[in-house]
Amino acid sequence: MTRLGILISGRGSNMLALVEAVRSGRIAETEIAVVVSDKPNAAGLTRAGGLGVQTQVVERQGRTREDHDRETVDVLRSHHVDFVCLAGYMRVLSAYFLEEFRHRILNIHPSLLPAFPGLNAQLQAIEHGVKFTGCTVHFVDETLDGGPIIAQRSIPVYEDDTEESLSARILEQEHQLYPEAVAFVVSGKYEICGRRVLRKR
Ligand code: GRF
Repeated sequence: MTRLGILISGRGSNMLALVEAVRSGRIAETEIAVVVSDKPNAAGLTRAGGLGVQTQVVERQGRTREDHDRETVDVLRSHHVDFVCLAGYMRVLSAYFLEEFRHRILNIHPSLLPAFPGLNAQLQAIEHGVKFTGCTVHFVDETLDGGPIIAQRSIPVYEDDTEESLSARILEQEHQLYPEAVAFVVSGKYEICGRRVLRKR
């Protein structure tokens, strides 16, 4: 059994999509070990708790990044986590965290990376005038949203799109893409060659 740890800071809809995919067997041979939030009031915590998923808060306030990450890594280790899924986790990871889970941390981002990294990716896409955007699941490294890309899905941007309407359409795709990408990684049928994530034949 592969054990997933999911890190959230807010709403947690991608976390729920992963929990549902694990429970329905779409992500095979896998269990959710723990959901960790750096914010005690994250809505996703209540939603995870309601589904009987183990939750834990590791508060970041008033601590250095490394100190906070050490405690988070301890929690993940104590739950025997194999892969870490960031799902709306609003904190950049320290070198320590990255080293502890090298190539075992995934993130989902609401754009077709490398376009529009960072915050407000959907608004960036509208303001840039692109005709297509989407979402990306990637391995996390020391760059901002720049690690090796695992999977992407594109959607059109309409002229009357607002940040809200575009975000909602991207989010629908995120909820499908993230479980598919996690299932792929958990299957182990890939190799990372430089920046490329290649399917093993
Ligand atoms: C998603 O748009 C995700 O791509 C980004 O943060 C948002 C989190 O939403 N990283 P949720 O908490 O999963 O609902």
